[in-house]
Formats: sequence, structure tokens, C-alpha cells
Amino acid sequence: MTPLRAVKGMNDVLPDEVGRWQRVERVFARTVSLHGFREVRTPYVEPTALFVRAIGETTDVVEKEMYSFEHHDDSLTLRPEATAGAVRAYVEHGVQAREPVTRWWYAGPMFRAERPQRGRYRQFYQVGAEIFGDEGPGCDAELIDMLAGFLGELAVPGVEVLVNSLGGAEARARYRDALVEYLTPRAASLSAESQRRLQGNPLRILDSKDERDRTAVREAPTLDAFLDAGDKEHFEKLRSHLDALGTPYSVDTRLVRGLDYYSRTLFEIKGAHEKLGAGSTLVGGGRYDSLVADLGGPKVPAIGFAAGLERLLIASELQATARATDAVVLPIGAAAMSSALLLARDLRREGIRCEADTRGGSLKSQLRRANALGARVVLILGESELAEGMVQVKDLDAHTEERMVRAQVPRIVLDRLSAASRTIDSEPP
Ligand code: HAM
Repeated sequence: MTPLRAVKGMNDVLPDEVGRWQRVERVFARTVSLHGFREVRTPYVEPTALFVRAIGETTDVVEKEMYSFEHHDDSLTLRPEATAGAVRAYVEHGVQAREPVTRWWYAGPMFRAERPQRGRYRQFYQVGAEIFGDEGPGCDAELIDMLAGFLGELAVPGVEVLVNSLGGAEARARYRDALVEYLTPRAASLSAESQRRLQGNPLRILDSKDERDRTAVREAPTLDAFLDAGDKEHFEKLRSHLDALGTPYSVDTRLVRGLDYYSRTLFEIKGAHEKLGAGSTLVGGGRYDSLVADLGGPKVPAIGFAAGLERLLIASELQATARATDAVVLPIGAAAMSSALLLARDLRREGIRCEADTRGGSLKSQLRRANALGARVVLILGESELAEGMVQVKDLDAHTEERMVRAQVPRIVLDRLSAASRTIDSEPP
């Protein structure tokens, strides 16, 4: 029978890799909690209408990439991103009535039916955060600076922060008209996709990777000329805060991003292109000051971002330790099994990660397995050790071996394992 395979673009993460995932997740959780964010968990499935209204009908995500299905009389969708769900939850639970400013973070899988390639998957993981109730630009700068620090902690080389301002709805409408006016006489030179976008969502043409579109927009008007005084002041203040914080960034007046809910501040953070290729955008975010009201809530400004975990892992040079366990107890002979189970339990009570080799078998084969697990210490219980109440302790890192009194073993082993080598993957944030 042909074995079944995972769905294309949806990947298994095997235990050898999970250590690095957890490490990035821990750094993120610590970073956001230092900045006052609290975790929120929203469903993976939401009404399709939520994403259509929030992300926009003419975006790639809604037009082509959603996993939607009918269930009884409802149209449901696997979430392609988490901002829409966070806003729905914020409105549904009347959070604004309880707190003037809300800082939420989240982590979890998202689903988009994109063409899979390195750094682009159909099930991928995001870590992200949203701030409700603060118009910025102070919190915008703080968020961008926090992300620069986060990527620094992950040892991501070649980090580049791009910022832009989309302005409010009016500025965007004026710009949209100007762009359509500029591109219409040049429509024949655009890609088929952009010709279609020219009516529905012309701003997206600025984001196209197609060479024909890039040439056509090279001389096109840019957004900055259309911002009103309030938008300009907001953006200037953001820049001055970033300058004061010493956070490197550049302004990219063609940055538009692919979701329709944004207004004013927009940002993307890229990592080294050589490693990441087409998926070099690690983080995307921005302000969405009218989305809460558009989804039926009060008028509350908001800003947020999300980072792709797989991309962070490709970009990051952080390694996790390979140790799956700290100590392994080796029972030599059937009579030693119960004592080995007891000893292993005593070690765990000291907080030591420990396995007993419950298969039994020869000393040689048990040692081979202890080595493969990356154990630092092996504890051998043979016939003579059992009879004398002793344990043979072999330190695989220090290459030493000694006999110890059974009752003292857990304490001595704990002292041996230095905090750093023992707990790097098991520590709470
Ligand atoms: P986004 O730009 O669509 O924004 O996605 C954010 C990040 O998720 C991207 O920069 C990328 O790292 C990762 N990502 C997106 N699609 C894929 C994929 N198919 N495979 C792997 N990684 C991917 C959002 O999702 C917004 N909700 C961000 C936001 C929050 N804006 C305001 N608040």
C-alpha cells in the first residue's frame, strides 16, 4: 500500500528541530511580556465573512489563498492570519470598556493556500502582537524597536527595517486616483495580474515582483506627497522616536503590504536575502486605525505585527542544545530493573531530565543509546552495585567514572550538571 503523505506545504516538525522552535518562542514570549503584552488565544477557524471584511475582498489572501469550507449553513475559514480574529475577540468581549489600552500577543499556526517554496508554506506559524487604544506614534516606535531587539537576540544577520506611512482613508483615496491616472495610459505594459488590479486594488501593483510592473511604477507618484498634515506629523514623530532610540530603519515610499486594513504606519523587517530568498520578509505590520470600528466595535486605533516562525528559524543563527536528556540509568540484568526505575524517579524529583533504559540488554548497547541521547551522565546498576547499595557513575563529558553511595547520587548528579548545559531547553522564559 502507498503510504500517505502530509499535505503539500504543511510540514512536520520533528523533535530534533523542536528545540530551536521552542527557543525562538521563549525569546519572543519574554520580549513581549517585558513590554506589557499578555497572551490571547483565538480559534483557528472563524467565519469567512470576518476575513473578507477585515483583509479585503480584492487581496491575494482573500481572493486566492483561503481554506474555506461550508459547515451546515455557515461558511468557515482556517485563519490566514490572526489580526482579524484578535479584533473580533476584542469587540465581542467589550474589552475596550474595561481597559483603555490593550496589549495582546499570540503564537500559532496560520493557513494560506500559497505556492509552497522555501520560507512559504500552506500551514505556517506566526508570533505576533496587537496594541489597541493607542494612536501612536510613540507606541509605533516602541513596537519597531522591540522587534529590532528581538531579531538581535535571535542572532538574525542582515536585518533591515523598512517603514512607510499609508496615511488615512482620504490620503489613500487621493493617492489611489493619482496612481490609476498615471498607470492607465501604461496599462498595456503591465502584467495581466496588475491590469486586473488597476481597477480593484491599484496600490498592490506597487508591491508586484513582475519586472514589467516594476518598470511601469518606477516613475509613478509616491504616497508621501498625498499625506495630509496630521499623517505627516505622525510619521515625522515616529521617525524622530526611532532616531532617538537609535533603531536603524529606512523609509520605503513604495511599501504598501498585502492586507487592506492598514492606515498610517506600515513596516516590514527583512533578513539576509541569500538565506531566505523570496521569503526574506520576516516581520510585517502596521496601524489599522479603522478596523475595530469597521468590524462593529467602538472607534479604537490599533497597531500590530506578525513574524513567520519558519522564516525566523531559517534566518536565525541560534542553536539549541542537542541533549535530549541529562542522565540515563542503565540496569544490567533483570534484577536491576526496579531499582533503576526508582533511581530515575529520584533523579527527576531533583529536576534532572532522566531516562531509565527500560529495554535492559547489554551494557554496551545501553551505553550506545545513552550517547545517542546526548546524556551527560550514565548511572550503572549491576549485580554488585545492587548488592552493595552503590551506583557506578560515568560522566560522559568529563570522561570520569566513580562508585557512589546510592542515597547520595541524586544530589551529586545535580551538582555535576551545570545549570547552563542542563536546562537551556527546559527553562521557562
Ligand atoms: P503578513 O505580512 O501577511 O501580515 O504576514 C506576516 C509574516 O508572516 C510575514 O512577514 C512572513 O514572515 C509570515 N508569512 C506570511 N505568509 C507566510 C507563508 N505562506 N509561509 C510562511 N510564512 C509566512 C499579517 O499576517 C498581519 N496579520 C500582521 C499584522 C498584525 N498587522 C497588524 N497586526
